[in-house]
Amino acid sequence: MAFNRFNNDIAEDVLKHADIVRVVGTYLNLTKQGKNYKAICPFHDDTSPSLTISPEKQMFKCFACGTGGKAIYFVQKIEHISYNEAIKKVADISDYHPQGIEQFAKPKQVDEKKEELIKCLHDLNLYYQFALNTPDGKEGIDYFDSRNLDSSIRSKYKLGFAPKDGKATIDFLKKKGYSVKTIEDTGIAKMLSVGNYRDMNEGRVTFPICDIDGNVIGFSARRLKDDDTAKYMNTPETYLFHKTNNLYNIHIAKDAAKLKGFIYVCEGFMDVYALGKIGIDAAVATMGTALTSEHIQILKGLNVEIRLCLDGDLPGQKAMMKIARDLNRAGVSFRVVDNQGSSKDPDEILNQDGEEALKEYLNRLVGHTDFALNYYLRSNPLKTSEEKKMLLKEFLPILLRINSQIELDSYLRKLEKITGFDVESIRELVKKAKANDYNVSNPASYREVFQNFHPEREALQKLVTAERELLYQMGQNKAAVSFYEQKIGGFYDDIYRQIANFMVEYAETHDDMDINGVIVLVESSDLENRDELLNDLTSLLIETHPNKCDEKLLNNLLDTIDGEKKRITDEDILESSLEGKSELEKARIISEFRKRKMAKR
Ligand code: UTP
Ligand code: MN
Repeated sequence: MAFNRFNNDIAEDVLKHADIVRVVGTYLNLTKQGKNYKAICPFHDDTSPSLTISPEKQMFKCFACGTGGKAIYFVQKIEHISYNEAIKKVADISDYHPQGIEQFAKPKQVDEKKEELIKCLHDLNLYYQFALNTPDGKEGIDYFDSRNLDSSIRSKYKLGFAPKDGKATIDFLKKKGYSVKTIEDTGIAKMLSVGNYRDMNEGRVTFPICDIDGNVIGFSARRLKDDDTAKYMNTPETYLFHKTNNLYNIHIAKDAAKLKGFIYVCEGFMDVYALGKIGIDAAVATMGTALTSEHIQILKGLNVEIRLCLDGDLPGQKAMMKIARDLNRAGVSFRVVDNQGSSKDPDEILNQDGEEALKEYLNRLVGHTDFALNYYLRSNPLKTSEEKKMLLKEFLPILLRINSQIELDSYLRKLEKITGFDVESIRELVKKAKANDYNVSNPASYREVFQNFHPEREALQKLVTAERELLYQMGQNKAAVSFYEQKIGGFYDDIYRQIANFMVEYAETHDDMDINGVIVLVESSDLENRDELLNDLTSLLIETHPNKCDEKLLNNLLDTIDGEKKRITDEDILESSLEGKSELEKARIISEFRKRKMAKR
């Protein structure tokens, strides 16, 4: 259909009655910002919301990738449809149907090729189902029995058996009147030589794959015994069957999902059956592929909560993180079944641990952020202050995407509990990350945001300030270094203690102290946190502390340091554990104790 003056009038009329916010909002999560709305841009790999939607101008514009325009153009781009089809969609979203709009609806033409293929696959599946109950299919029955798939499951999901004589299967279809071309186009025939075909599924149990209307469009066929052939053989890409936009069991699941308000997305057929057995028909399987954007659009169309139930192994969990991001971006509401590190699939849980265990498992639902947090905590160490900073480093992008203040607060408090870092200092970090367009994979932006982030020090401000002053004096004055060695023994602060060690080492071989010299020592070391030490050392180089370094100052600093340590260690248990220990050991014990205490808060 050519685009003419008349179409243009209708497009303008529809735009006049459409609201850009409502249109974009049906596809993306919007947040209000002043007069406008913001969203993660779907047209490039966006991390911070770059897409602006202006109700005033009735336009959208991405300031990162440049894409922009009116409502119809937005729908055309996001749905990958023609402009005319998009006019109709916008009219539908706006509940405004001017005369002549129907011409833009996608023409419902009869697709003869499709119908013939569907008929052929339907007959083939009846043949497989029938074959299951012949002597030839006995081993198929035995296999299903061994997987606890009884006759009611077998008929519900139309499972069957492809006879070992795969040539006979092709002959059956020919006798039914299907042309060789049609049989070829179903994708189930493999050609041995010209004109000589066999069924690619022969000797396997069969799982028909249906489209959303319940038509068989392809098969997966499982081997019966472990051998070196593929576990499941799938119909290749055909005119009907596209693995990337098909969800197994969608025809059964769609109605159940609408009734229940949710749908489980699993990986395999066996998982769908396991859920079906315990009364959850609202379940589909991705058949081992990634969740594609087509899958997401189908699921989004159901308008129910999506419950991701993917494998617990590490790659599975990694994949889940990506899926969660994609769903977030598409504005789909979802939760994740938290498998708590176990790698059993639902089928294994049902068979090994029973129905209650599977029900309990499926109800362990967590939001995206909790899932990411649990995942991180399971797969990373979290003892040292550095490791805790790594957690924040990985987590900042997720925190930045949280739009609700209440939700953000709740996560900041969670992170405070986990790391022992003060909640306010983490909040500051988030603010700084926002202002600096934080990007995890860019080390410069990490350094920028985390510079001066020393939350463990803030809790002990007085102690650490005194330690820093002494450290500064040590950099100028050998007397301060010997005072440290004799009276202090070790700083509470990990970084300061390490720097002090370098200063002591430097003092042993030089007549006068020189911070530049200490810097060279640190630079030539292979410490993991070398950069962090250098950060502090170079600051010491440009700091000035007005106090003169004499005995009075050193004793004052010692008093403060001792006094603060005592205040911290007023606990009986700690005191007794300090008895008879060297100053250095004491410093270590106190520091450990303090960390544990903070972690428990
Ligand atoms: P799994 O390996 O998790 O299979 O693959 P499963 O469902 O647990 O199967 P069983 O219990 O070993 O029989 C998940 C899904 O990936 C697809 C299938 O759709 C399977 O259900 N897959 C797997 C294939 O397409 N080909 C394969 O060789 C393996
Ligand atoms: Mn399995």
